[in-house]
Amino acid sequence: MHFYGGHRGRRDPPRQLPADVRGFVNRVDDLDRLDRLLGDGSGPERSLALCILVGTAGVGKTSLAVHWAHRVVDRFPDGQLYVNLHGYDPGPPVTPHQALERFLGALQVPAESIPADPEARAAAYRSLLADRRILVVLDNASSVAQVRPLLPGTAGCLVLITSRSRLSGLVARDGAHRVSLGVLSEEQSIELLQGVTAGYRPPGRPGRAAGTGGTVRTAAAGAVHRRGTRGQPPPHAAARADRGTARRVDAVGRAHRRR
Ligand SMILES: Nc1ncnc2c1ncn2[C@@H]1O[C@H](COP(=O)(O)OP(=O)(O)OP(=O)(O)O)[C@@H](O)[C@H]1O
Ligand SMILES: [Mg+2]
Repeated sequence: MHFYGGHRGRRDPPRQLPADVRGFVNRVDDLDRLDRLLGDGSGPERSLALCILVGTAGVGKTSLAVHWAHRVVDRFPDGQLYVNLHGYDPGPPVTPHQALERFLGALQVPAESIPADPEARAAAYRSLLADRRILVVLDNASSVAQVRPLLPGTAGCLVLITSRSRLSGLVARDGAHRVSLGVLSEEQSIELLQGVTAGYRPPGRPGRAAGTGGTVRTAAAGAVHRRGTRGQPPPHAAARADRGTARRVDAVGRAHRRR
């Protein structure tokens, strides 16, 4: 596939990983597990080529994937490819065909050289990845069909997928390692909420915390889970730790609902 100008792509590797999660909380066991799966790189070939992070809506899959990817980014000298597949958004998901177009573009393939035929497009992608070490993050995937055309054909790359589905076909047929994320504990939820509400000011005043909705949702996922498992309403997690935090959390929640 030399007509794709692969040399230029090698000099200027893609760096598509989103910024690391600010104030990342805990997940020590999950991070350790991922580190162990990846290994120390001393062997001739890595054992981990395909890993899926699964868990309930909002549990923190994307955050963990992005945070861990930053920790191991140096192990992938030929760059990173990232796509949000929007598998669970109300709008249309990103198709594999569209994702491949973006990836080939990021690998410096000129638009006019990107094959229109789906199989040829996937084959061009696999050819370009064949002898590179690239970290590929396929975020928010909804099905095996959405990700399979985006898998490299060789083991030099690592593919990290996040999904609310278990994607069993990838485990059975493609040898994927599956890591299931549990909800944050009450203490971890408090830590997360304290971090995100630390600079909170009521709406209309300068310094209002932005982008807190998802975080509240992540902590709420833990609370909902605990209520489900104990069969009784959870104590107000933040209130138990710090009444000031509780007031800020409530205010953030109200502001979020108004948006
Ligand atoms: N461990 C964490 N540390 C800090 N912030 C976190 C953590 N986990 C989640 N968050 C926050 O919660 C928000 C929602 O988490 P995230 O998007 O990772 O969940 P998700 O499981 O990928 O959700 P979805 O099922 O909708 O894809 C993030 O934007 C982030 O701000
Ligand atoms: Mg996600």
